[in-house]
Amino acid sequence: MRDGDNAAAHNSRSLAETDPPVREALDKEARRQRTEIELIASENIMSRAVREALGHEIGNKTLEGYPGNRFHGGGEQVDVVERLAVERARELFGAAFANVQPHSGTQANQAVFFALLRPGDRILSLDLAAGGHLSHGAAANLSGRWFEAHHYGVDRATGLLDYDEIEACAREVRPSLLIGGGSAYPRAIDFERMAGIARAVEARLLVDMAHIAGLVAGGVHGSPLPHADMVTCTTTKTLRGPRGGVILARSEEFAKRVQSAVFPGVQGSLHPNVVAAKAVCLGEALRPEFRDYARRVVGNARRLAAVIADRGVRIVAGGTDTHMVLLDLSSVGIVGRQAETALARAGITSNSNPIPFDPRSPSKWTGLRLGVSAVTTRGFGAAEMEVLGECIADLLLAEGRSAPGQALERARARIASL
Ligand SMILES: Cc1ncc(COP(=O)(O)O)c(C=O)c1O
Repeated sequence: MRDGDNAAAHNSRSLAETDPPVREALDKEARRQRTEIELIASENIMSRAVREALGHEIGNKTLEGYPGNRFHGGGEQVDVVERLAVERARELFGAAFANVQPHSGTQANQAVFFALLRPGDRILSLDLAAGGHLSHGAAANLSGRWFEAHHYGVDRATGLLDYDEIEACAREVRPSLLIGGGSAYPRAIDFERMAGIARAVEARLLVDMAHIAGLVAGGVHGSPLPHADMVTCTTTKTLRGPRGGVILARSEEFAKRVQSAVFPGVQGSLHPNVVAAKAVCLGEALRPEFRDYARRVVGNARRLAAVIADRGVRIVAGGTDTHMVLLDLSSVGIVGRQAETALARAGITSNSNPIPFDPRSPSKWTGLRLGVSAVTTRGFGAAEMEVLGECIADLLLAEGRSAPGQALERARARIASL
């Protein structure tokens, strides 16, 4: 074969022709996503426009640095796309500063640490069992190795953040950085109060709004931007974009430090296709329809929580102000993994999760985390939440009685009809 033919084949042969096992797995995954009910709180469904950008050949481009100041040639169109993403992120969240290059939420957090902290500094964040995130100082994460991490929890009786308690903890620990936000705290967070606590102990405040960024953008959750020194988020989850991170700030005070913390601090070249997809999803979130979407997400989560609670399953923190509902399965007599499996048999995808004061071992976690961002994107509303809530409660209660048979058959049929 001539070289020219090789080049033509490289550019024209489909995935099905060149790599059937990967094609097959992708097709099965697409089918799974269409036929199952996705209730994992960190997931959502990207639009076709976002996926077009994500799969674009702009991803071939290697570039380091920032628009107008790159270390490679040929980056004019990436500059256009990155500037659009930055402008849209600033407009959407009312931020003076935005960096859209972090490859993930974890790396966005790392970059903020790199910019604001020195190894050994004290950080104070939400405990993992109370809904915190690994990248906020967990022992198994780089953040827990490099910094002296301390954690605050939630009130044992209510499951809510107790700001007086956080302040007392901050006064004792005297952290350099106070971190707000997490992965499994279903209630609204008072960012103004968090900022007051940070000020009282001369700490900086980082808010990680990875889960709720879309709700903040849609105006249904208070914004941390006016209060925090730095804000990080992912463009996945409620923002409905590609996998990746963003760093925001209300002022330019730390802009230079954060820019160089992302590159060359913790990352090398950017991912231009992901930055393009971020620009598209941020553009989508600026449209009025997105506010409606965010409102429907919270409405759906509240409905789902109410239906399940009515059947006697305890809801952690007494309900939700977000896209997320956390169930306490000790009220049913099973653990999270059993619940996850019971729901999976009926075509519902969810995840076992710790609840406040749970033991560290995942096999003993007694929580189940549900999120409605993806099903709301699919168009589910109150009626579907009733059906889903009833099916989930039926399945969990039947599992608790070790008699899943009938409930499973009934749930399967009802889920299929959705
Ligand atoms: C609060 C919070 N921060 C950061 C992350 C990490 O994001 P990534 O998985 O993109 O590293 C997550 C992911 O779920 C999260 O919930």
